Amino acid sequence: MQTVELIKRKRDGHALSAEEIERLVRGFTQGEIPDYQFSALLMAILWRGMNAQETADLTLAMARSGEQLEVRRTISPVVDKHSTGGVGDKVTLAVAPLVAACGLPVAKMTGRGLGHTGGTVDKLESISGFRAALSREEFWSILRAHQLVLAGQSNDLVPADGKIYALRDVTGTVDSIPLIASSIMSKKLAIGASHLLLDVKVGSGAFMKTIPDAEALAQTMVEIGTRAGVQTAAVISAMDQPLGQAVGNALELREAIHILQGKGPADVTALCHHEVASLLEMTGLAANREEAEASVRQAISTGAALDKLAAVIEAQGGDARQAQEPALLPAAPIRIPLPASRAGYIAGIDAERVGLAAMKLGAGRFKKGDPIDHATGLLLFARIGDQVEAGQPLLEIHARTEAQAQAIQAELLSAYGWSDEPVSPGPLIYGEISSGAGAF
Ligand code: URA
Repeated sequence: MQTVELIKRKRDGHALSAEEIERLVRGFTQGEIPDYQFSALLMAILWRGMNAQETADLTLAMARSGEQLEVRRTISPVVDKHSTGGVGDKVTLAVAPLVAACGLPVAKMTGRGLGHTGGTVDKLESISGFRAALSREEFWSILRAHQLVLAGQSNDLVPADGKIYALRDVTGTVDSIPLIASSIMSKKLAIGASHLLLDVKVGSGAFMKTIPDAEALAQTMVEIGTRAGVQTAAVISAMDQPLGQAVGNALELREAIHILQGKGPADVTALCHHEVASLLEMTGLAANREEAEASVRQAISTGAALDKLAAVIEAQGGDARQAQEPALLPAAPIRIPLPASRAGYIAGIDAERVGLAAMKLGAGRFKKGDPIDHATGLLLFARIGDQVEAGQPLLEIHARTEAQAQAIQAELLSAYGWSDEPVSPGPLIYGEISSGAGAF
């Protein structure tokens, strides 16, 4: 069947077969199907959706477009974790070394920031000399030596996703559950861990703005992982305000180090402990939640988790002293507090607006290839539900210049919603989905 016939079939709401999807993905990745035809197909998928079988077939076709590491064939169990992205989301930086320090190997390929959401590689590159681009041999030798590797996304892994994502970005076809699920899961399947924990964010700073959408995305990804033989679970967690206090690369890395030292902010610390405990339970390394939580506490109190992060940083060319002494991380020359414009209870903090303001300080990229200023960002002092006085600092702006800091003040103030009555913050974790079972 001609490509145009397949586009029309999807346009009219019919399902495509595994062979047809494979042909479309291969044809586009190899340059035989032009952008205009693939764009039309993406738009048809966005409007018509895909059933579970089609979404799984699309994911597998994308995963097969490049190299497949299949790490679980060499080391098992070996875990992977992935967040759908948010503002102030430094969870991977703390969870990965914590899990490894508890004796569970972690093979993590991690990305750069996407839009207002930060990326783990950018945060790690705050460290002098840190290299995320690893050869295959380096990837394996670091994983074997430290039970942890934090590699950047290789171009050989899922080239189809690189091409398709670039087209989605400019054709208004990012916000589609089958397309997001296949994009994320194709990369996870190409790595091929034995167990995968997904953190699906929901709220103003996330791709998914509503709980039903987040549940649908989580369910779709768990089903794809399970069908492909990866034991997969998803946590649905709040992104209705930035996570923790820090937004910005070195600031977030410093906060992750604080979590590993047992002195991180309560919300992000609780989420990190929950995710580590879930992974320890999923793999059978802990018999129950109490045992898992005891392992987490031990990895922190003995310093094993921070030592693990420092060792991996060193193995990847970075200055390990910066992990042990975060005061050595890059710091912005200008620090300006942002006073509250009124007294009251904080009813909302628009995480996307906060993320965009941090990008304007240089903490993120407006277009691919833009340089990052690792030192800049924001430190938030107040959270939803807090009562503040007029003039009390809501946050601190860490900027390269005073003009940059002043330029974002009004925008930041507009991110705050207020109430005269006490406000109860929503839950941090809405629920968890594991293979075939929901827990809402
Ligand atoms: N992250 C991805 O890797 N892909 C998407 O489509 C969205 C978020």
